[in-house]
Amino acid sequence: MGLVSGACFAEMGNKVTCVDINEKKIENLKKGVIPIFEPGLEAMMLRNLKNNNIFFTSNLANAIQDAQIVFIAVGTPMGDDGSADLQYVLSVAKSIGDSMTKELVVVDKSTVPIGTADKVRATIQNELDKRELQINFHVVSNPEFLKEGAAIDDFMKPDRVVIGADAEYAFEVMKQLYSPFFRTRDRFITMDIRSAEMTKYAANAMLATKISFMNEIANICERVGADANQVRIGIGSDKRIGYSFIYPGAGYGGSCFPKDIKALQKVAEAHQYHPKIIKAVEQVNNEQKFVIAHKIIKRFGEDLTGFTFGLWGLAFKPGTDDMREAPSIYVVKELVKRGAKIKAYDPKAIEEAKEFYLKGIKEVSYCSSKYEVLKDSEALILLTEWKEFRSPDFHEVKQQLMNPIIFDGRNQYNAFHLEEKGFEYFQIGK
Ligand SMILES: NC(=O)c1ccc[n+]([C@@H]2O[C@H](COP(=O)([O-])OP(=O)(O)OC[C@H]3O[C@@H](n4cnc5c(N)ncnc54)[C@H](O)[C@@H]3O)[C@@H](O)[C@H]2O)c1
Repeated sequence: MGLVSGACFAEMGNKVTCVDINEKKIENLKKGVIPIFEPGLEAMMLRNLKNNNIFFTSNLANAIQDAQIVFIAVGTPMGDDGSADLQYVLSVAKSIGDSMTKELVVVDKSTVPIGTADKVRATIQNELDKRELQINFHVVSNPEFLKEGAAIDDFMKPDRVVIGADAEYAFEVMKQLYSPFFRTRDRFITMDIRSAEMTKYAANAMLATKISFMNEIANICERVGADANQVRIGIGSDKRIGYSFIYPGAGYGGSCFPKDIKALQKVAEAHQYHPKIIKAVEQVNNEQKFVIAHKIIKRFGEDLTGFTFGLWGLAFKPGTDDMREAPSIYVVKELVKRGAKIKAYDPKAIEEAKEFYLKGIKEVSYCSSKYEVLKDSEALILLTEWKEFRSPDFHEVKQQLMNPIIFDGRNQYNAFHLEEKGFEYFQIGK
């Protein structure tokens, strides 16, 4: 998120210095080597490196010497108890207080629990007090709503820019920075800091709720003989409901929803409120990640020894190589646990799988094309909505697979009538 934000601010002509404690990342970035796959990011980065609009360093003190605004965009992963781990945010706040020399606007852009701005302010002030310095600074909450896979587009053309602040100067500085991103009319939403922090959690919780709600409806549909995709169209036509985020699927993953849903529960509980809906959203999702595996087990039996399955899609969604909390991890591990072997293909995420998320699982082999996966596989499992899986050559798929069987965990409408093409076709919600 920090890299995308930095690149987009640079694209608008600002001078941006990106700081990271990971020195290898910084050395690579200086050479134009991007650590993630995100459409459009590499070209934008290279352009701005060349124009001297973007710089990289591991030295925060140097980076903030000439800065007017500092964004905190570090990770806020799930801590051991489920709440957001603020150690990285507060460590940056400490470094800012330790090295700032003039007035600064400090912006919390990471997704943080309500009240974090106060902690950031206190941490910076504490460091200034130790240095016996009086320097004015403002803490602002500016949550980020970009979607991985469409991050550049989202950042360059935001639906809204939420700014939570408590001083006119801070609002003004933020508006100046973001004004170039609006051409026809501005889409600023200004509010108090805590409301801005809460807005991000509420937005993610609402979206996750839509997903889990539809997945629950899909699970009921399967049992009562209804088709969740037809139901989706039936309900989406109601403007109050809308079509987006109501596709049944293999559960949400990624770096944000799972941890943010948990963090919001923890925030509520810390204030003596026990959320019911948000908790259920998480429970439904945890079970949903196994629905495809259960369909496979129902079809092939509890013991999958001797079976090989082909898998298309490892990333948690298309357009990214990110596999954090991806349903593929759960499906693969469940099948391997029962003795199966997996042949997997993904356009971007194979390295992530090999190096981190499925590291060391010798039952998983990786293929360099989607058709290579099919040979000697009992059935094909589809998990990510990559475009290249939308309209494959089903004749080839049928010929190559040992049996014409497809398990489809993608959350998208499939118009190929695969049953009529002689496939045994298992979908979620049908
Ligand atoms: N990924 C998204 O699509 C997205 C969207 C909106 C909001 N967010 C939020 O943005 C935040 C960051 O998410 P991400 O996915 O970019 O995380 P990430 O883990 O990919 O990146 C965080 C970076 O911070 C660096 N870092 C850690 N401590 C540091 C320190 N003290 N000084 C400098 N750098 C440090 C890490 O080395 C890492 O490169 C999270 O709070 C997340 O919820 C992410």
